[in-house]
Amino acid sequence: MGFPTNFLWGGATAANQCEGGYNEGGRGLANVDVVPIGKDRFPIIAGIQKHLAFDDEHFYPAKEAIDMYHRYKEDIALFGEMGFKVYRLSIAWSRIFPNGDESEPNEEGLAFYEDLFKECHKHGIEPLVTITHFDCPMHLITEYGGWRNRKMIGFYENLCRTLFTRYKDLVKYWLTFNEINMILHAPFMGAGIVFEEGEDKEQVIFTAAHHELLASAAATKIAKEINPDNQIGCMLAAGNYYPYTCNPQDYFAAIQKDHENYFFIDVQSRGKYPNYALKELERKGIKLPIEPGDLELLAENTVDFISFSYYSSRTVSTDSELNKQTEGNIFASLANPYLEASEWGWQIDPLGLRSTMNQIYDRYQKPLFIVENGLGAVDTPDENGYVADDDRIDYMREHIKAMKDAIDLDGIELMGYTSWGCIDLVSAGTGEMKKRYGFIYVDRDNEGNGTLKRTPKKSFDWYKQVISTNGEDL
Ligand code: BG6
Repeated sequence: MGFPTNFLWGGATAANQCEGGYNEGGRGLANVDVVPIGKDRFPIIAGIQKHLAFDDEHFYPAKEAIDMYHRYKEDIALFGEMGFKVYRLSIAWSRIFPNGDESEPNEEGLAFYEDLFKECHKHGIEPLVTITHFDCPMHLITEYGGWRNRKMIGFYENLCRTLFTRYKDLVKYWLTFNEINMILHAPFMGAGIVFEEGEDKEQVIFTAAHHELLASAAATKIAKEINPDNQIGCMLAAGNYYPYTCNPQDYFAAIQKDHENYFFIDVQSRGKYPNYALKELERKGIKLPIEPGDLELLAENTVDFISFSYYSSRTVSTDSELNKQTEGNIFASLANPYLEASEWGWQIDPLGLRSTMNQIYDRYQKPLFIVENGLGAVDTPDENGYVADDDRIDYMREHIKAMKDAIDLDGIELMGYTSWGCIDLVSAGTGEMKKRYGFIYVDRDNEGNGTLKRTPKKSFDWYKQVISTNGEDL
């Protein structure tokens, strides 16, 4: 009993939050580069502000990030020292196709990831690659309007074919879109969308969603054609909704909120648009731009496994008095009085992970993969740069116990666990460095000061022991 012997323990990062080197190696500019830290970040993420170029007033943390572009060997060696079996990372699309619409890829970008994957294998680490993690070449946004344009599918297919061919012998686990449901909350990051004055935002979002879902199915098809061993996953920003009370209205509101998120995975895993969504879209007058052959493509190319991020459960009420947003969270959620919260207001709910796993597994009956989980917190190093991050260890211990119960008591198939930000990196939501998740401390602050030196934290040794005992010694 306990974790299966081939369980994939590891950690996760995303290119734009750790690589830096934004203008090196022939890389083109991407949406994620022009999003600053501070109060002007969110309007851009939400697609409602059009300021899409660097200026002197703002600090753009993705430009240098934690400089993994130059330090990946050192970082992967540290992951190897912890005993990682898998490392989840993402490809920066604009390193491979700087503008996104070229027919030939940038060799320097391809060579960079080839070397990085070889470095992983040298340490016995299997790469798990997210093809797009909130990134989109800027040219595809300014010229084509991002994923609202059907042409994006072809550009994405070109990217996928290039990656699957070049890395055929190096990578077999792929995720098509990070947190595909994030398009509802962060359309600029999720789909390169900047809204025009007066347009129907929901129509634009669901048009882009249809294109991404088609692109994901097309990627699955191409992946299998190139190498039948390829394993393709979808990726959901997960976390069940609880009804705030047992009022049937609240219970039904929770079902509807869960539907908002499952909409995407229902298509990627079951191969068809769910009836509840078709009805809702019809009521709202939103039209999916379905063309001949689209529904067949979706039906015939479903994913092999369901991956998801889980940081917190969510709570919903139909009482308008209660409806205020939990601070610091892209997902609107009420504070749950039974739970404690992190310094950024993200509520901590390990049992919620087990509930979420049950709900997803009941729904799809496919293996699950937890590809993000962790505690974003302020770390204070001692004079030697060492951080005793006991709160992070406690958070992870309780979540791993919940995973174990889901396996042992509920019979859920779980392929692996990659905790988020295994090395400190830039926060996607806020752009801060101060919000740290890592086992490895990186000397860098919100303003970009610091030596970038890496120092293992207390959680580094703890996680090493978790992995070496296959989750027995927590
Ligand atoms: C997920 C993203 O939404 O949450 C990551 O896939 C992100 O990119 C993570 O970093 C944690 O969020 P934040 O805002 O704390 O960085």
